[in-house]
Order: sequence, then structure tokens, then C-alpha cells
Amino acid sequence: MKKSITPVNHFCPQALFVYGTNKEDGTPNFGLFSWFSGYFDKELGVMACIGDEKLTKDRIRATKVFSANLITEEMLPIADYFGNTNGYSEDKMRISVEIEKGRVLDVPILVNSPWIYELEVDRSIVLDGSDVFFCKIRNVLAYEPLCDETLSVEQRMNTITPVLSVGQTYFRWDGTSLGNWGEPMKNTQRNTH
Ligand SMILES: Cc1cc2nc3c(=O)[nH]c(=O)nc-3n(C[C@H](O)[C@H](O)[C@H](O)COP(=O)(O)O)c2cc1C
Repeated sequence: MKKSITPVNHFCPQALFVYGTNKEDGTPNFGLFSWFSGYFDKELGVMACIGDEKLTKDRIRATKVFSANLITEEMLPIADYFGNTNGYSEDKMRISVEIEKGRVLDVPILVNSPWIYELEVDRSIVLDGSDVFFCKIRNVLAYEPLCDETLSVEQRMNTITPVLSVGQTYFRWDGTSLGNWGEPMKNTQRNTH
């Protein structure tokens, strides 16, 4: 039995990615995103939708490049912080997190992410407040055990423990809850200097 309900995505599990961009002064900024998926058009691409005005969107428009870092259970507190802290507030990035440069593009990446896309915007569509970016994948940085073909896909997925978002709740890959949006970030600490 099914019933028609209002348009919500409450029971649509989505993987989470932190996007990394360079600010105008060259320092990194990170934000958390779930409207992210793949598509195919001669080659594999990635599409990402960003709503409202936010620093990540400004910087993707300006530089045309960004990284998308898959979020794992271990990374959730910092990812939740990046998703609930406005990039326009100057001290957002005053937090300790291990950052590197991409291997192909000049984009900041999160060292602890096991699966990272380095993306270049190919085309974008400006909607009524949201922008959808269609991106070419310039590089994929994969945690080495994920490339071990002797392991099953199930075994490899279980080494990275990705986090899913359903409605406003985070879930482990095994379907158990990791708390509501805004809760895991309570385990992060801003730098005071
Ligand atoms: C779990 C989660 C998923 C999110 N997904 C998106 C998304 O797909 N698109 C979007 O525009 N904002 C999304 N946000 C909101 C952004 O993360 C938020 O606006 C953040 O401030 C962006 O970083 P910035 O301000 O440094 O650009 C999400 C937030 C959370 C907590």
C-alpha cells in the first residue's frame, strides 16, 4: 500500500560530500552537500546543486573548480560543522582539520576522505535561487584498499563506512542512526587563535 504525500525527500538516502574551494585570498573553505550525483555524457560526470547564496557557490562560480570529499563516520563531526557554519563568517575555518592540495587541480581536499573528486565545471544552469553545476571529473583520489580487486565491493565499502543522510538525520551504512543534523558538530572545537 502506498499513499501520495507532499514533495519531500525524507526517505531518500543520500551520500554526503564536503566541497572544498579556494577563497579569494587563496585559503581553503569547506561546506557540506548532499545534492550530488553522477551522469554520463560521452564521459562520466558529476552534477551538484547549490541553493541560495553561499561562499562555496561564489567560489565555484569564480574559480570553476572544487573538490568533493566523501564523508565517513570518523569525519562526521567536522563535516556537520562545515554544513552548519556559514562560510561568510570569517572564523569558519579556524578549526583543526587536515588539508592537502588536489593532485591535478588547485583545490583543497580533506586528507581523511577515502574517495575524492577533483572537479571542473563544464556547464551550469542558474535556476530561481539554486545553481546546478555539471562537472568534468579531472581526478579521483581513492584510498588504496578500495582498489584491491581481491576484496568484494561489500568488504571495500565496509572499510570506508560512508555516512548517509535521510531527512535531517545522519545514518551509518548499516542503517543505524548517528544523530540529527547539527548534533555531531558538538564534538568539534574551534581554535581560539
Ligand atoms: C547534511 C547537510 C547537507 C547539505 N546539503 C546541501 C546541498 O546539497 N546543497 C546546498 O546548497 N546546501 C546544502 N547544505 C547546506 C550547506 O552545507 C551550508 O549552506 C554551508 O554553510 C555551506 O558552506 P559555506 O557557507 O562555507 O559555503 C547541507 C547541509 C547539511 C547539514
